[in-house]
Amino acid sequence: MSDKLHWDDALADLNLTQDGPINIGYLCTDRNVERGLGDKTALIHQGHGGALGKFSFIDLKELSGGWAAFLEDRGVGSLDRVCLFLDRVPELYIGFLGILKLGAVVQPLFSAFGDESLISRMEDSGAVAIITQRKHLGKVRKVRDRLPELTMVVVIDQTDAHKPLRDGEVAFDMETGRNADFIPAATGAESPSVLHYTSGTTGKPKGALHVHESVLAQYLTTRDVLDLKPEDVYWCTADPGWVTGTSYGIIGPWTLGATQFVLDAGFSSAAWYQAMSDHKVSVWYTAPTAIRMLMKDGAELVKEYDLSALRHMCSVGEPLNAEGVLWGREAFGLDFHDTFWQTETGAMMITNMPGMTVKPGSMGKPFPAVEAAVVDADTGIRIDEPNTVGMIAVKPPWPSMMRTYWNNSATYYGKFLNGWYICGDRASIDNDGYFWFSGRDDDVINTGGHLVGPFEIESALLEHEAVAESAAIGKPDPVNMEVVKAFVALKPGFEPDDDMELSIMNFIRKKLSPLAMPQEIEFMEKLPKTRSGKIVRRMLKAKERGEEIGDTSTLDDD
Ligand code: PRX
Repeated sequence: MSDKLHWDDALADLNLTQDGPINIGYLCTDRNVERGLGDKTALIHQGHGGALGKFSFIDLKELSGGWAAFLEDRGVGSLDRVCLFLDRVPELYIGFLGILKLGAVVQPLFSAFGDESLISRMEDSGAVAIITQRKHLGKVRKVRDRLPELTMVVVIDQTDAHKPLRDGEVAFDMETGRNADFIPAATGAESPSVLHYTSGTTGKPKGALHVHESVLAQYLTTRDVLDLKPEDVYWCTADPGWVTGTSYGIIGPWTLGATQFVLDAGFSSAAWYQAMSDHKVSVWYTAPTAIRMLMKDGAELVKEYDLSALRHMCSVGEPLNAEGVLWGREAFGLDFHDTFWQTETGAMMITNMPGMTVKPGSMGKPFPAVEAAVVDADTGIRIDEPNTVGMIAVKPPWPSMMRTYWNNSATYYGKFLNGWYICGDRASIDNDGYFWFSGRDDDVINTGGHLVGPFEIESALLEHEAVAESAAIGKPDPVNMEVVKAFVALKPGFEPDDDMELSIMNFIRKKLSPLAMPQEIEFMEKLPKTRSGKIVRRMLKAKERGEEIGDTSTLDDD
C-alpha cells in the first residue's frame, strides 16, 4: 500500500470521526448546506425536449428530507430495501439520497428492465417499496402478484387527470413534500446503504451490498481521479441503475459539493456536444461504447461546438482501446483517462490519475490507496514477472468493497483466494506497473459497458413457446464491444424464419431489457452438449470467432 494516501484521509475532509455516524444521504445534502454551499447549484437537469431544471443544495436537502419523511411515515424502516425504478428524472437522484437519509437500503433498477429482470432482483432482495413513474407502472403491476413482500408502490407523477391508483399504490409529489427538518439517521460505517444487482455466468443476478463507509473511497477517487474542483460542472453519462451512476453520478461528486449535469434523453453525438457546450461541462466521465459512437460521427463535428470548458475526461466499463484515446486527443485535445473497477468494488481500483502519462490501451495503475496485483488463477500467488497474464486481484479491505452478496454469502466468500479479492478479469502488468486488460474469465457478456448474464437470457429464451434449447454468448462488436448472440433449437412444428427471429428478440427485450435482447439468432438443429446434457457455450464462442473448436469427444462437465 502506498504511504501517500489512506482511505481514512477522507475522514477529516468530510468532518467525520472513526467511530462516529456516517450517512451518505446527509453528506451529499445537509452537510453542503452547513458548510455554506446551500445556494450553489447541485443539479442541472435536462429532460426530454430540452426542459431544464436546476436544484441547489438547499433543494437537495429539503427534497431528500421530504422523501425520507414520506417513507418513514408510511412505515419504511431502517434496513428495509426500497427500489428506484425511474428514468433519469430528478426524483431518481434525490429519492436515492432520501432513502439513505432514512437509513433504509436503496436498490436502483434500470428503468428499461422487463418483468423477469424485475422479479429476479426484487424477489431476492425482498424489497418493501418501489418508487416509479406512470410510464413504468404497468410493468410494476404485472409483477406485483409474485412479490409478496412488496407492500408499497410510490408514483411520482400521478395527477387528477390520471386513472385512480390501485390498492397499495400511493402518489408522492417531491416538490410539495419538502421537509427541511428531517434528521438523517445516525447510520454507522458498516450500516448497509446501496444494493446493486450484477450478472454472473450462472444463476440469477447477485446483489452486491455496500455500506455507508463506501463514501470514503468514492470521495477520494472522485477528488483525485475525476479531479473535481469547486468551479467544475461535471457530467457522468451513466444511469444510476448501474454502479457508475450511483458511486460517481451521485455519491462522489455531491460529497465534494460539485455541480452535476444530468441528461435524460436518447443518444446523439450532436445533442451531447450541444449539452456540453450549453452547460459548460468541464469534467466528463463516460464509457468506451459512447466514445466509439461519437467517433463514428468524426472529430470534425466536435469542432463545431464550443467545448472550451472541458478540461478532464475519464472512461469506465469496458476496455478503452488505444484508438479511442488517440481519437480523444484529436477531437478534444485531451486524454481519456481509463478507470477499472466493478459493482463489487464500489469505487475505482485501477486508474489513470491526472498528470500520469496515459499509455493508450492501458487501464493505468492501482489508485494510491489500493494494493492490486495479478495472481495465478489456481493458487492466488502474485505473478511478479512483467507482461505475464494473470487474474486481477485486490487486497482487502477497502471501504467501498461489497460486504456480501445478498442471500448468497457462499458466492461472496468464493471470490477470495490466498488473501486477495479476485475480480474475475485477466490482465498483465508492464515494466512500468501499468495494467493491460486481456479479458474476462467467465462467460458474462459485456455489451456497451453493461454486464448481462448468459444464464438469464437462456432461461428467458426457454420460456418462448417455440424454443426447445438455447445458448447465449457475447459476439465481438466494433462499437458495443460485444452484443448478445443466441443459438436456438426450435420445438417441432416451428419454422426458423425471420418472423420467428423477430418474435424471439422482442420476447427477450420485453422480459429482460433492450440490452439483453439478442442482436442475432442462429437456429440450429440441436446445440452442442456435454455428456450430461449441459450446453457448451465454449464451442459456440469458438465457432463464432472462427477458432478451432477442438476435439469434441473430450467434452466434459466443466
Ligand atoms: O470486466 C470488467 C469490465 O466491467 C466489469 C465490471 O462491470 P460492472 O460490475 O457492471 O461495473 C462496471 C462499472 C464499474 C469488470 O469486471 N470493466 C470495467 N472497467 C473496465 C473493464 N474492463 C476493461 N477496462 C476497464 N476500464
